[in-house]
Amino acid sequence: MGAETAHHISTTLDTCFQRTYAVGAPDMRRLYENAKRDQWNAARDIDWAAPFDLNKGILADELIDGWGTDALAGLDQGRLEQLNVEFSCWLLSQLLHGEEGAMLACSQLVDMVPGNDAKFFQATQVVDEARHAEVLSRYLIDKCGGRIYPLTPNIRTLFDYILGHGKWFVKTVGLQLLAETFAVALFRMFSETAKDPLLRGICLRILADESRHMGFSILSLPDEIGGLSPGDLSELEDFTREALKLVLTGQFPQEAYEAVGMNATEIEHLKRVRKEVARGSEYAIFRKLFRREMHQTIVTNMKKVGLLNERTTAMLREMGIDPSLSAEQ
Ligand SMILES: [Fe+2]
Ligand SMILES: [Fe+2]
Repeated sequence: MGAETAHHISTTLDTCFQRTYAVGAPDMRRLYENAKRDQWNAARDIDWAAPFDLNKGILADELIDGWGTDALAGLDQGRLEQLNVEFSCWLLSQLLHGEEGAMLACSQLVDMVPGNDAKFFQATQVVDEARHAEVLSRYLIDKCGGRIYPLTPNIRTLFDYILGHGKWFVKTVGLQLLAETFAVALFRMFSETAKDPLLRGICLRILADESRHMGFSILSLPDEIGGLSPGDLSELEDFTREALKLVLTGQFPQEAYEAVGMNATEIEHLKRVRKEVARGSEYAIFRKLFRREMHQTIVTNMKKVGLLNERTTAMLREMGIDPSLSAEQ
């Protein structure tokens, strides 16, 4: 395909060589203990030999843009089955690139975060994210014929910013608070609705790790955010808005439709139909529930870490997120 498969990001890190070793943050140390206890092995603990039939499809058909509309009427049964595979692999590829980016960000965080409790925990997250990249890439390569689609511009921009930024708490807000909330909402949906049982099992394994990662942001950020200067806080709020936009805007899986032979006119028609269908259908309700759950987690977590204030509340409203959705009062 000739698509770019690597790029470089220049950054300057402030590495903190911490040499106090007594437990300073017991909650963080407990998270580290949980991480050691709950390690799993993607090579051994996933039943790679289980019967698998790519023709049965991977994710739920209802997730595919335009499913059930006349925009896909030109595709025969075989093409529809192929579309499920291409669409699913496109989405899983985005998650795979996100896991790789998460691994890189966490390796920077090992250097940057103050305190050994947080450093030890971040060291475990590096291994977790490596395992997630391993398990998703093995699924796409061994089971799905190597269908790894390129990174979307949105996710690339988000990770360029997370990886290039010089402050650890900005990385943590970008990764553990926002990007992982989005990924968790997707993995949860896949674990409940995917057609392929092997993928459902993989998603459940990943989810068990992700709850710890979100826990890291909830434990590490409140004190840091509470002590920020007005300038740093305002920079963090701006970043939060931009990162949320990138995470929430989503991107159209153009390449998946091209792979089943749809031409530019047919794809344009599909994009229009998709917007019309986005109101009122059962498929729209499915997406609405997903969005609502994700919005609620974002608002709740922003509140927990002290990032929900007058300014960010207005930002959230502008983006169509109801700031009163917080599960915490
Ligand atoms: Fe992950
Ligand atoms: Fe994670």
